[in-house]
Amino acid sequence: MKDSLNIAIAGATGYVGLELIKILLKHPKANIIYLCARRSLGRSITMFDKKIKKKNLPKISDIKKINWNKVNVLFTSLPNGEAQKIANRIPSNIKLIDLSADFRLNDHRIYKKWYKKDHNCKKFINKSIYAITEFSRNKLNNHRIIACPGCYPTSAQIPLIPLVEKRMINVNNIIIDSKSGYSGAGRNFKKKFLFKNLFDSVSAYGIGSHRHMAEIDQELSKASKRKINVFFTPHILPMFRGILSTIYLETIGKNNAKKIYKFLKQYHKNNFFVKIAKFNTPIGTGDVMNTNYCKLSICKDRKKNKVIIISAIDNLIKGASGQAVQNMNVAYHLNETLGLQ
Ligand SMILES: NC(=O)c1ccc[n+]([C@@H]2O[C@H](COP(=O)([O-])OP(=O)(O)OC[C@H]3O[C@@H](n4cnc5c(N)ncnc54)[C@H](OP(=O)(O)O)[C@@H]3O)[C@@H](O)[C@H]2O)c1
Repeated sequence: MKDSLNIAIAGATGYVGLELIKILLKHPKANIIYLCARRSLGRSITMFDKKIKKKNLPKISDIKKINWNKVNVLFTSLPNGEAQKIANRIPSNIKLIDLSADFRLNDHRIYKKWYKKDHNCKKFINKSIYAITEFSRNKLNNHRIIACPGCYPTSAQIPLIPLVEKRMINVNNIIIDSKSGYSGAGRNFKKKFLFKNLFDSVSAYGIGSHRHMAEIDQELSKASKRKINVFFTPHILPMFRGILSTIYLETIGKNNAKKIYKFLKQYHKNNFFVKIAKFNTPIGTGDVMNTNYCKLSICKDRKKNKVIIISAIDNLIKGASGQAVQNMNVAYHLNETLGLQ
């Protein structure tokens, strides 16, 4: 393909990697040339997902075998800690789009606090950008490494960043109650939730300590220029995919739920992948399943100064692969929606 981007995916056989492949196969400017994993080397990727039909995709290979001269973009959908090692090894002209937490935190000390290990690639932290596309369009092509946000933080920040920037809410009392399908924990979800009856129970986890709090706090604090610590509790549900975050807020000044609805509708009016439901409408993950949309519903409470925002995304797409491709499109000055409609 002329003028197309040559793409390598590390972690191609994982839940996120497989979604990336499906999106990039629909992308007119993307040419997948490497699919990498640790196991199943030499096998066809179609054995991991029957929906991937294309015959001439590369076989699964070891990342060590990549000829970097051929690659423009490397997506890393690997466990935390792995992209840091790779960033040190690849030529500097390759755009690294990372879906793990490796480059999300701006301070290596904060990284160590939350991830319990030293950052392996400190020198690249300031060459990376934490990018929810909707808030980062103008800065994306200046950075060699694009850190795609976590799935829960994406669902929470799309409504919250504009509100804290505009100082419409009490930042000391932001409550984010999130529910996710089990694909959020990756292929090995059963090991990660060993003692939970995953298929017949809704379970809270990471209570008061989930790592995604670090990036939500970081980004909301940056946007509001004040220190913010949110309440955040994730739950895992007996369904495969989707995130629904219910966010409880207290307005300040003369703001109320209707004003917040009007403001967010106006703020996101040119953001193709953000949809705002009619005021006070119930929504669910089914509304955004298999899409790159984030759907928001702004709802009123009995009390005038309280507002409830519901945010729905598909964790594997807007919360991961879709957002990563959206970031790539913007970084390369392509139409933001390529591959994603
Ligand atoms: N799942 C989500 O909803 C979601 C959303 C946003 C971000 N993320 C992040 O995206 C990344 C991938 O998530 P996932 O859900 O796709 O995970 P996953 O299903 O567990 O897949 C992990 C992939 O990485 C490969 N891999 C594992 N360990 C490796 C190692 N040490 N070196 C090289 N390759 C290795 C695996 O291949 P082998 O099996 O061959 O080892 C597999 O292809 C994670 O950092 C996750 O936190 C996930």
